[in-house]
Amino acid sequence: MHFLSAASAALTVGSAYASPLMPRAAAVDQLVGYAAGTTGGGSGSGTTVTTCAALTTAAKTGGVIKISGNLKDCGIVKLVGNTSILGVGSSAGLENSGFQVRKVSNVIIRNIKFHTPPEGKDLVDIDESTKIWVDHCDFSSVGIVGDKDTYDGMLDAKHGSDLLTFSWNKFHDHWKGSLIGHSDNNAAEDTGKLHVTYHHNLFENVSSRLPSIRFGTLHVYSSCYRKNPTSGINVRMGAQALIEASSFTDTAQAIITNLDSDEEGLAIERNNVFSNSPVTITKAGSLSSVPYSYTADAASAACGIVDKSAGVGVVTF
Ligand SMILES: *[C@@H]1O[C@H](CO)[C@@H](O)[C@H](O)[C@H]1NC(C)=O
Ligand SMILES: *[C@@H]1O[C@H](CO)[C@@H](O)[C@H](O)[C@H]1NC(C)=O
Repeated sequence: MHFLSAASAALTVGSAYASPLMPRAAAVDQLVGYAAGTTGGGSGSGTTVTTCAALTTAAKTGGVIKISGNLKDCGIVKLVGNTSILGVGSSAGLENSGFQVRKVSNVIIRNIKFHTPPEGKDLVDIDESTKIWVDHCDFSSVGIVGDKDTYDGMLDAKHGSDLLTFSWNKFHDHWKGSLIGHSDNNAAEDTGKLHVTYHHNLFENVSSRLPSIRFGTLHVYSSCYRKNPTSGINVRMGAQALIEASSFTDTAQAIITNLDSDEEGLAIERNNVFSNSPVTITKAGSLSSVPYSYTADAASAACGIVDKSAGVGVVTF
């Protein structure tokens, strides 16, 4: 149900999750979490683009940019601050293409089906940027086949990026999911940054990084994890994670705090359900509340809700 919490106020959390009998308590069309206040290109009707050339040109000015249709081979398109990228209807996509969000603030990306970045690249790559909301997108490539380094991540945020919300997305059929903080050696730039909320996302058939986080602060709730063969939420290098009301099935190392880095991470997990999905929390975290209000759906209902209401074609433009 509705949790009100604030850094300075007492926390109200407990058994108040929506019950499985309530199909969904969380709103599907609302910005919640660390990226709160992100407005992107504002509320105008904007420009509609149907070609890579028009997208690349429009992206230089920003504002509201609507993508109509599935655009292929755009390369990496750079976004400026104060931009909203919105997919028209249920078939707006980018293929063999990706977005770079670098040294900017205030960007929204919604209702886009991303399929396969250019080789060696990310689908969405966020560096040195703040206030980014990625919502109701679908991310995939060719599956967990071939060389794991042919493509890079699906949705990565690095180099001191901060105030991020990634909600209602489907991440599937790819090697490297979502990397938050790229190196054990980047404490100076990342410590105190990399605050990120993931809610109502699906992670299915993704090998690892669901997400991986170093140094930052992670809140995951009401998400669905299925069939992820290598590792799930990888919390490392002193990062703090609160992971709740989520469902994990057949996910190796579903939550782990001592994998692959010089220092452990810290985590609290509560009200999750795990099926064939081992958890290794070696250090208890201290992130028991977050400085925003949110509505969680129960772990037992999370997969049904996310299957139906995450991804493209749900919130359309
Ligand atoms: C974004 O909008 C804010 C507020 O209007 C403005 O101060 C800032 O310069 C804009 N940034 C860009 C890159 O347009
Ligand atoms: C995961 O892979 C299986 C086949 O192994 C496929 O049936 C399923 O649709 C995939 N899931 C998603 C979300 O694409």
